[in-house]
Amino acid sequence: MDLDNFNWEEINKKLKESVRAMKSFWKSLPEQVKRLTVIVIVLIFALIFVRGLLVPADFGKYGHYRASAIDEIISQEINYAGHGICLECHDDIVEKKQSSYHKGVSCEVCHGPAAKHTESPDEVSLRAPRGRGYCPLCHEYLPSRPTGFPQIVSASHNPMKPCITCHNPHDPKPPQTPKECSACHAEIARTKSLSRHIYVPCVRCHEAPVDHKIKPREVLPSKPQTREFCGGCHGEDADSDKGIPRIDLAEHYEHYTCWQCHYPHLPEAP
Ligand code: HEC
Ligand code: HEC
Ligand code: HEC
Ligand code: HEC
Ligand code: HEC
Ligand code: HEC
Ligand code: HEC
Ligand code: HEC
Repeated sequence: MDLDNFNWEEINKKLKESVRAMKSFWKSLPEQVKRLTVIVIVLIFALIFVRGLLVPADFGKYGHYRASAIDEIISQEINYAGHGICLECHDDIVEKKQSSYHKGVSCEVCHGPAAKHTESPDEVSLRAPRGRGYCPLCHEYLPSRPTGFPQIVSASHNPMKPCITCHNPHDPKPPQTPKECSACHAEIARTKSLSRHIYVPCVRCHEAPVDHKIKPREVLPSKPQTREFCGGCHGEDADSDKGIPRIDLAEHYEHYTCWQCHYPHLPEAP
């Protein structure tokens, strides 16, 4: 490029013009946009500043983390051994537990961290939770636990004896198959026994195959599905006992299923 013939004046003029244009553009912006722009610029600078100040020097060396964290984690003592290694010396127990209800509960949940024990089993022995206090951590009745999770009320479930006198902790199936619905659905049975439905048997509303008591999770009973089911006793022209309170199915909150308002095991008017 030939610098001598360059028209500096022309360029200067153009520059001034564009600065002026920018200024008037800025002025033409609405107030709130101006304020926002200032805030955004301040934030960007603050971010750059804080990053430089607070992010550790070795951040990002290998990836999106602090490189020296790896050494810190490696230097931590290992306490848990995992359940695979127990097989080497306790194969009988591992095998038994594998096909039991406790197959999903790891050995060290009950026996505590076992790394040292696996290295020198004769010097470091583990403790076993033999008292009644332990198992209820998972099995005490709590309304928020999922339906079907085996729960007991420990104050009334065979009190005075340790759980392990009747349940092998490595294969805890109950000693006998219970006959009554209340054996496994104790809370529902208790609730119903205080309700107006006390004399309506469970199987009047649930068709329960015999196998449900043997393989309760594989074979499920039925549950009522329609308003008409309840209407069979409570409908105005239902063919049922005279004492049963009646409602007009077509009128009584007709857009909802009954148990959106009446808990069937305690149906007293809400
Ligand atoms: C290298 C072999 C070995 C490995 C691996 C091993 N154990 Fe042991 N364990 C033993 C021996 C031997 C004993 C008996 C020592 C004693 O009576 O104190 C024992 C005893 C126990 C006891 C009995 C405590 C009591 O109160 O009677 C428990 C519980 C136990 N081990 C759990 C485990 C768990 C859980 C694992 C896996 C994380 C495991 N062991 C891995 C060898 C091993
Ligand atoms: C639900 C809790 C629980 C789990 C899970 C559990 N145990 Fe136990 N374990 C116990 C209890 C309680 C005892 C004491 C039993 C007794 O004294 O009759 C025990 C006893 C033992 C014993 C010593 C007595 C015996 O029966 O030989 C060994 C060894 C043992 N457990 C190993 C294991 C291993 C290995 C695993 C994993 C495969 C495991 N346990 C999983 C609760 C548990
Ligand atoms: C970490 C939680 C946990 C602990 C602690 C625990 N369990 Fe369990 N238990 C479970 C799970 C999970 C199941 C399987 C539930 C399922 O199959 O839906 C189960 C199942 C059972 C069952 C089977 C009930 C049935 O459906 O027939 C019994 C009995 C039982 N446990 C007793 C015990 C005893 C006794 C102890 C104490 C030695 C114990 N549990 C400690 C989690 C635990
Ligand atoms: C005297 C023997 C005995 C003792 C002690 C005992 N149980 Fe049971 N357990 C049974 C029998 C029998 C059943 C099955 C019938 C029933 O539910 O009553 C059962 C059932 C269970 C169930 C299954 C409930 C369900 O809804 O499927 C769990 C969980 C349970 N027991 C845990 C425990 C715990 C935890 C302890 C200690 C706090 C304990 N048991 C103490 C005999 C016993
Ligand atoms: C041996 C224990 C046991 C006995 C006895 C038992 N149940 Fe159950 N029942 C269960 C378990 C466990 C579940 C949870 C299944 C699941 O959610 O996976 C269940 C679930 C149910 C459900 C819910 C089904 C669903 O689709 O949600 C109904 C209804 C029911 N049982 C009714 C009954 C009735 C009625 C009886 C008596 C005739 C009875 N059960 C006896 C253990 C038992
Ligand atoms: C008047 C009819 C009726 C009677 C009697 C009855 N149930 Fe139910 N039950 C229902 C209805 C309806 C549902 C479904 C509720 C839902 O879907 O929200 C249900 C749901 C259940 C469930 C699923 C879990 C839950 O709480 O929603 C179980 C388990 C159950 N019933 C067991 C029993 C047992 C055990 C008895 C006897 C002690 C019994 N029922 C008596 C109507 C009844
Ligand atoms: C086998 C007949 C029968 C069936 C089916 C039945 N009920 Fe009932 N219901 C009764 C009886 C009997 C009473 C108690 C009457 C009394 O108080 O003497 C009752 C009481 C009631 C009450 C209490 C009314 C009041 O006075 O507060 C309500 C609400 C109720 N049932 C709702 C339902 C719902 C919802 C269903 C369907 C899940 C249902 N019922 C299924 C027989 C039945
Ligand atoms: C939107 C909530 C709701 C729904 C859905 C509902 N109910 Fe009710 N039910 C109530 C209320 C509130 C009362 C008490 C006031 C009244 O009588 O309206 C009641 C009262 C009752 C009574 C007592 C009547 C009396 O004379 O004592 C019965 C029986 C009854 N309902 C049965 C049913 C049946 C069966 C269904 C399903 C077909 C059902 N309800 C659906 C809210 C509801």
